[in-house]
Amino acid sequence: MEERERWKRRSDFIFASIGAAIGLGNVWRFPYVTYQYGGGAFLIPYFVALITAGIPLVMLELGVGRIFQAGAPQAFARIRKKLEWIGWLALLAVMIIFLYYSVIMGWVWNYLYYSLKLSWGADPKAFFYNNFLKLSSGPGTLGAINWAIVIGLALSWLWSYNYLRRGTKSISKEIYWTVTIPWMILVIMVIRGLTLPGAVKGLNYYLTPNFKALLNTGPWLAAYGQVFFSLSLAMGSLIIYSSYLPKESDIANNAFIISLADAGTAFFAGFAVFSTLGYLAQTMGLEVPNVISSGFGLAFITYPTAISKMPFAAPFFGVIFFVLLLTLSIDSQISQVEPFAAGFMDKWKFARKKVLPVVVLFGFLGGLFFTTQGGYYWIDIFDYFTCSFVLTFVGLMEAVIVGYVFKASRMREYINEVSEIKIGKWWDICVKFITPIILGFSFIWELKKVVTKGYGDYPRWTTNVGFALVLLLLVLSIVLMSIKGKEEQ
Ligand code: PHE
Repeated sequence: MEERERWKRRSDFIFASIGAAIGLGNVWRFPYVTYQYGGGAFLIPYFVALITAGIPLVMLELGVGRIFQAGAPQAFARIRKKLEWIGWLALLAVMIIFLYYSVIMGWVWNYLYYSLKLSWGADPKAFFYNNFLKLSSGPGTLGAINWAIVIGLALSWLWSYNYLRRGTKSISKEIYWTVTIPWMILVIMVIRGLTLPGAVKGLNYYLTPNFKALLNTGPWLAAYGQVFFSLSLAMGSLIIYSSYLPKESDIANNAFIISLADAGTAFFAGFAVFSTLGYLAQTMGLEVPNVISSGFGLAFITYPTAISKMPFAAPFFGVIFFVLLLTLSIDSQISQVEPFAAGFMDKWKFARKKVLPVVVLFGFLGGLFFTTQGGYYWIDIFDYFTCSFVLTFVGLMEAVIVGYVFKASRMREYINEVSEIKIGKWWDICVKFITPIILGFSFIWELKKVVTKGYGDYPRWTTNVGFALVLLLLVLSIVLMSIKGKEEQ
């Protein structure tokens, strides 16, 4: 049997995990979800979600990976054989995510090219929707495949294949520069954004809390979904990375570092986006909430606007900005593919050499769907259903399983044994009560809302497709559990 892979240094692991966490989730998804849920109205749920579920669950996943020395399905199977499907469900969710995530990276490749000539011109919004996406009239019309995006998609997959080919060895070789440099450029974007006229308007929208909105469930579930997405929780990424850790590696401190780096980056990126949004509102003579109808394309409109407004060398800033978006997202993409591929390697003892090309090819072909003219809508719909329902469900189950079946106190003792920072009883309370209760409630409320009203402004049948997707993943996870693995035969 092959030896389990190992990180050589603690920093390899930390960087890989931060790389997994920080990605499009921080600079693209966080701002648009925040925008959709009313800016400041979203920040409180977001930070509450971070503290009550994000950080405790990062610790939990690192603990699970370290103890069981396996990816999510095998790890849960070792707690109870019948629980293996939860792990598979996590991997299937991450599969949906890497299918569309790489397409968004495909957009970024195109924007990298556009920034050479600032091709988006004076109206980045019209450019994004009409010239670039050639958006169809709705999710019912897929239209043609957009070949420019396909090229970007292919580049992303080739790149991540190269990253993953030799496992932890090749990952840790590349990870350092793709994690550290992006920050610097973000600083430049923030400064540029803040100095645009009207910036304050955007910041007010971003930072003014709206306590009334806290009574709705929407922002709460979205906040948990966003925290999960951004920290790469409930998708097996952290579990698998942590399973490559040598014995006696720290958990609690690493968890704080990863979580705070991630949330800090998202919060910071918000300044770049919202200040620019304020500027857009001012020039268009609109109120901030009306600048864009669906927030989803936000980043691809606000950043180009800010880039065009650079006082000098705008194309240069454009190029480095999109290079940095790519370097930010590539290590997230590999952290989506690795747990998925490792699920098969762990259970059926397939060789990496065999599994990886298949997964990469599948990822590329599956992504084609999202490169169509209607693909944009489907990314939105799939993203919503996966993050809001599957991820929160898996997170809920993780908390319940570790909290009650494995026992929170036992996990905490284990974590404290190896950690520099000792965690207290509060952790048990989060894992056993707060996380499951909040997740459970918001899950049910959101479900009720979507069942009665449907998701977004889309035609009703798309909501049914969303639920069908969730069901399909559920069934598949049970099927994967019931196929016999190698060690059991
Ligand atoms: N957390 C990553 C981001 O913010 C995305 C991601 C999702 C990574 C799922 C791994 C697993 O971009």
